[in-house]
Amino acid sequence: MTPDPSEWRKPPFRPLPEWVEGPTTRLVHGARRPDRNAGSVIYPIYQSSTFRFPAAHSEAEGGPYHYSRNSNPTVEGPAEVVRQLEGGEASRLFASGMGAISATVLSLLRTGDEVVALQDLYGGTGGLLADLLPRYGVRVRTLTDSEARSPEAQLRPGTRLALLETPTNPTLRVHDIARWAAASDAVGAHLIVDNTFATALNQRPLALGADLVVQSATKYLGGHSDLTGGVVVGPAKLLARIDPFDRFGATLDPFAAFLLQRSLGTLALRVERQNENGRRIVAALQRHPAVAHVHYPGRGSPDEEAIAARQMRGRGGMLALSLAGGAGAVDPFLHGLRLVQVAASLGGVESLASVPRLTSHRLLSDDARHARGIDDGMVRISLGIEDPEDLVRDLTEALDRIR
Ligand SMILES: Cc1ncc(COP(=O)(O)O)c(C=O)c1O
Repeated sequence: MTPDPSEWRKPPFRPLPEWVEGPTTRLVHGARRPDRNAGSVIYPIYQSSTFRFPAAHSEAEGGPYHYSRNSNPTVEGPAEVVRQLEGGEASRLFASGMGAISATVLSLLRTGDEVVALQDLYGGTGGLLADLLPRYGVRVRTLTDSEARSPEAQLRPGTRLALLETPTNPTLRVHDIARWAAASDAVGAHLIVDNTFATALNQRPLALGADLVVQSATKYLGGHSDLTGGVVVGPAKLLARIDPFDRFGATLDPFAAFLLQRSLGTLALRVERQNENGRRIVAALQRHPAVAHVHYPGRGSPDEEAIAARQMRGRGGMLALSLAGGAGAVDPFLHGLRLVQVAASLGGVESLASVPRLTSHRLLSDDARHARGIDDGMVRISLGIEDPEDLVRDLTEALDRIR
């Protein structure tokens, strides 16, 4: 086939007017590319595993795309939007949040290094640290909530990575990103923040001094419970070290990338409503007699309220209820729900409830779970974008049933 060199030009992103400041416009227009073939407003899905080289030329002399494990035009769009939103130099998308976290951690560590992390991490990340890294000679130290309040005392020369998740899952505790960043800097460690619960709309870890942001795009970024994805954002120099040539193979598929870009356009509106639903539901449920405690960012302690007020724009749509009746109250409550569905995961337009004891933290012993503040009557709730009055009614009626 006769090569036409114009075929292989990388389509540029249309520049935004320099006066655009708000994140919502950026989410809609941040990575628009002109479609030169049909003029479609929505950029097409390049569902192709491979791309043609000009005649018999080598890959180095070929066009901008070669093989979809390494690069694909559809996948570049949402990666660029998230990069802009988080305020980093470079970004990379993965097939899941765990794909992003594993590739990041494994790429930046070597034998003899130390990782310091919160005990209170998503179970998959906790498993990676506890089970896999020690096999490669990496030391892992996990911190209790009170130890994590003074990172200066915990990070030391030889600590290569510090790993923080805030707000935490499922206890919604808030940690001071700027303080962790300063403590990491002082010992030459890189700070990685998992921003899955907050998203850049509620919290910007890079602006607070973190080196890298990782996120499960399966949750708020995807927002419709119909894709799995992950992302890492940070300085180009660090990104170049993270999984070069995608050798771990956890690349985002073009179709999932298309869905992700579609979803990012409404992220700001969804998060705004989820923030509002969080505020309304906490106010409505905190005095319900069937509820012993509502876990929500800033409610952990006065210190945490101050940190949350400083570093979060909104508190998000995640909360957890500790039911006064303990484990025995959980089933009656869940059976009473008519809108909120019982399922793992979070961040979608529909509200979901899950029981950490039976899902995300089922592999921990009772003692280890209790030490993390996860009691047997805890139900985690991911609020969707439904009308707040309907959610208040559904949750209140289900709580009334267990009294
Ligand atoms: C905070 C957090 N980080 C990372 C992950 C992993 O993401 P994924 O399920 O997309 O692999 C999850 C999943 O629940 C999570 O809650």
